[in-house]
Parts: sequence; C-alpha cells; structure tokens
Amino acid sequence: MPASGLSSWRNTLKSAMDPSKARVMIGKVIKRFTDTQGTIDPAQNKQWLAAHARSLDEWLAKLDGGLQAEMKEFMVHLKHHANNVLTSIPYDLGGGGGVPLLYALTRILKPDNVVETGVASGFSSATFLAAMEKNGSGHLYSSDFPYFRIPDPEKYIGVVVEPQLKGRWSLYVKGDSANLPAIVSAAKGPIDLFHYDSDKSYDGRLQAMDIVAPALAYEAIVIMDDIQDNAFFHDLVAQKDIKNWSVFSYEGKYIGVIGDIG
Ligand SMILES: C[S@@+](CC[C@H](N)C(=O)[O-])C[C@H]1O[C@@H](n2cnc3c(N)ncnc32)[C@H](O)[C@@H]1O
Repeated sequence: MPASGLSSWRNTLKSAMDPSKARVMIGKVIKRFTDTQGTIDPAQNKQWLAAHARSLDEWLAKLDGGLQAEMKEFMVHLKHHANNVLTSIPYDLGGGGGVPLLYALTRILKPDNVVETGVASGFSSATFLAAMEKNGSGHLYSSDFPYFRIPDPEKYIGVVVEPQLKGRWSLYVKGDSANLPAIVSAAKGPIDLFHYDSDKSYDGRLQAMDIVAPALAYEAIVIMDDIQDNAFFHDLVAQKDIKNWSVFSYEGKYIGVIGDIG
C-alpha cells in the first residue's frame, strides 16, 4: 500500500528539508520536464527492442543443469524470505527485476567488484550477495536514494538482504550523483559487473555511465534495466559503436546487456 496522499506529501516535505536530499529531489523534478527520449521516439525504441530481443527464460534454460537447479532453489528461498519480511511493511517498495540473470551471471563470471544502482527493498542486492557467497569471493557496492514519500525511508533500503550476507556489502544512500564517484574511489579494483536499476531517465543513465565507464574492467558486463523507458541503451550501443550487446525480454519489459555473455 502506498503512503496516503497527505502523509506522502508530509514525508516528501520532510525529505526536502534535508539539503543533501533536496539536491537530488530537485534534480528529479527538473529531469521530469527536461529529460530527452534520445535519437528515436518511444514507439521506434520499442520496435527496435522487439526486433533485437531474445527471451531471458530461453537464455536461462540453456545454462548448465546444476546452475539452473541452484538458481531455482535460490529463487524459491528469496521469494519465501522476502514475503516474510515485506508482509510486515505497509508500503510497496517495488523492485525485483531480472534477478535470475543477476544470479546466473554472478555465478558464471565470479566478479570481484560489482556495482549496482537502485536497491529499494534489496532483491537484486540479496541476489548478488547470495551468488558471491557461493563463489566465496566478491564485493557489492550499491547506490540508492531513499523513497521520499514514506516515513523513515532509510530503514527499508535493502530490508530483504539477510544479515549474514552483509559482510560483502557497501551501501551508499545519497543518490547516484554523489554515491557513484564515492564507490568508484572505494572499489578495490576495476568494476567487473555494473547493474543499473535506479533513475530511469535518459540523463540519469548518461550521468551514471559517464562516472562508471572509466572504472570498468576491460571485459566488464553492464546490465541496464527497463531500457524500454527511453532510447538511452539504443543510443549508447550505436554512438559508442559497441558490438557485443544483447536485449532480453523478461516479464513484459526489456533488459539491456553489454559484454560477452554467450
Ligand atoms: C526499481 S527500484 C530498484 C530495485 C532493485 N534493484 C531490486 O531488484 O529490488 C529503483 C530504486 O532506485 C532508487 N533511485 C531512484 N533515483 C535514484 C538516484 N538518483 N540515485 C540513487 N537511487 C535512486 C529508488 O529510490 C529505488 O529504491
């Protein structure tokens, strides 16, 4: 259940009184009016995505049988655990996109450094961390910004992540524009996997890629969620002349991947 109209306004105003949050909030409002769709319009973008997409479920079905079984077991566990945690929280925290892809790639690639934007209740964070635990290696750096429509939003960021997995986790909550430079400085080595699932605007994606790109490992994988929202992914692969990219259709939306994933 979302926060009611009046309390949502009250919480938003409370967040706006905090200068560090106000900067990010004002930026979001400005983007709503100034954000670009990119070089093609939304209908053309959807056509382009549909023409290039393959089904994520089919890609997952080709994985090694042992990994598929492990992944399914993890998914059942995550769903059960998340249900238990989230039923006691009276807000819809959203999230959870493309989790099987994140689990499989983390187990296959065994990345040392993973960076993600967009945590919410923490489905993707819990997934990366569980796969890293199985690998016995890796560190996750997560960037988020508290939902400002609910009271005490910080306490809900990553609630789904189990305490025993937090040793490999660094969580930053000041918004991508402040978090990502801090994460790039803090990371102990190049970023092997970057998952973008926060500010879905064109400018938000562009700013994040500009900060993270110089810190990516040579063979890094970049995963971008909800690429149907605007033509950023389309423009990125065209303008940077990137050859190795994929588009997956999954649960009615599209996920873009850059890098060699087979
Ligand atoms: C779709 S949810 C993330 C879902 C998460 N990856 C999962 O699998 O559960 C998007 C998150 O991005 C956060 N967000 C939005 N704009 C942001 C920004 N500018 N910087 C950092 N986080 C932001 C939202 O507050 C929200 O928590």
